[in-house]
Amino acid sequence: MSDSALIINLAYVLATTLFIVGLKLLSHPSSAKKGNLVSAIGMFIAVVVTLIDHQIISYHWILVGFVIGGAYGAWKAKTVEMTQMPEMVSLFNGYGGAASLLLGWATISGMNTITMATTDTLIFVTVFLTILIGGITFSGSVIAWGKLSGKMSSKAFIFTGLRELSILHLIAFFVVGYLFATDPSNPVWLYVSIALALSFGIWATISIGGADMPVVIALLNSYSGVAACAAGLAVENTILIVTGLLVGASGLILTNIMCKAMNRSLMNVLLSGFAKPVEMGEAIEGEVKIMSAQDAFYVLEAAQSVLVVPGYGMAVAQAQHAVREMQSLLEENNCTVEYAIHPVAGRMPGHMNVLLAEADVPYDLLCEMDDVNPRMENYDVVIVIGANDVVNPAAKEMKGSPIYGMPVIEVYRAKTVFVLKRSANAGFAGVDNPLFFKDNTRMVLGDAKDTINSIIREFGDD
Ligand code: TAP
Repeated sequence: MSDSALIINLAYVLATTLFIVGLKLLSHPSSAKKGNLVSAIGMFIAVVVTLIDHQIISYHWILVGFVIGGAYGAWKAKTVEMTQMPEMVSLFNGYGGAASLLLGWATISGMNTITMATTDTLIFVTVFLTILIGGITFSGSVIAWGKLSGKMSSKAFIFTGLRELSILHLIAFFVVGYLFATDPSNPVWLYVSIALALSFGIWATISIGGADMPVVIALLNSYSGVAACAAGLAVENTILIVTGLLVGASGLILTNIMCKAMNRSLMNVLLSGFAKPVEMGEAIEGEVKIMSAQDAFYVLEAAQSVLVVPGYGMAVAQAQHAVREMQSLLEENNCTVEYAIHPVAGRMPGHMNVLLAEADVPYDLLCEMDDVNPRMENYDVVIVIGANDVVNPAAKEMKGSPIYGMPVIEVYRAKTVFVLKRSANAGFAGVDNPLFFKDNTRMVLGDAKDTINSIIREFGDD
């Protein structure tokens, strides 16, 4: 190995090490920022070394892409709201998929007939896989982005013939893949492959309901890594193979964690759109009992143990600092306060933990769902703040419900439940919530931050 090849390979090893260290640091909120920085340095080294490794004739277009992409990324990162993070992650997964698709396309388009004739068929197979997985990741991520950002309904979109269409797609993948790899000079197979990949990504994601979106995002993240890995094999770039594998493997681990958290098998999520529609069981009926913030204060003043269950609405209202203040007032009043965090509360893994950490809520007060459920009867008051699906008893009680079987925080077993939200509307999964009609539930309607601030004021007036 020449000296320059040795230096290049050592630089790749350094970049890979930085990615691994970065991933490790990302696993805790206190070190996550550092993890991002370490990974970004790794990526910078990888890009520079890859450019040096290849004899670049002109840096003109590379610089244009670098400036536009860099400026767009920086602008997005600076302006994104915390609650928009999952849809941004989804979009970035999609960009990763699109980049792999374009790389596969460029690889095949850059070959002349002589190169094609002397290239191993295995390379064409990897180019096909790059285009296929990249395309599915791109269009699937765009649909997931639409569902998460509210630009599309989060409900599963199922139509007659969806199952047959998907089976036809799967057969077509094998047939077109074979034709692509054996007749690469025919551009028709390239275009058909792209069309197949894009359309499959749409059907596969559109048919999955909102409640299962966390699993879908984690899986699409993993796909974007696998697509990059296939692209790395196609263009014989070591660092692309390694980073693709890292993203693919970590995405798969996250998918597994999400599936476990929601008591779902991956097959169950992926095939949910293809299953026969289920009966929703009996309609939810009852009377919503509304309470004012002032009356809620009187109950809280007498409470000795309070459990706070935050959800997406707390993030929307940016109520975490007010919640922290209320916690201090309750504690001064000799009341113990704990927080119950559902693994998919909010719109991204660890969403609630990050918000509460930002408001200096001590980490040891955060309890896991399995921790609080067995002692739910002991809490005098549970305050549900902008959470809905994660406390929906339909997951336990209504066999036909799309969320049936998902683990939830069983707040309905507490002595009293306050639900702080703006209406009795359904949550992200679009499923009605029988909790609102239970005898021990009181709804305190309004923006969560305003409601908590009203309760805080009552403590002050007392
Ligand atoms: P949701 O079920 O989405 O409920 C949030 C509730 O907050 C809404 O029903 C809304 O009711 C209320 N809300 C919104 N703005 C508010 C405000 N300013 N003040 C008070 N309330 C407000 O949230 P959840 O219980 O946290 O469950 C999360 C859902 O998102 C699950 O279905 C999960 O599968 C899905 N999801 C999670 C993730 C991850 S990884 N965490 C990723 C994607 C999707 P009103 O409109 O009546 O106020």
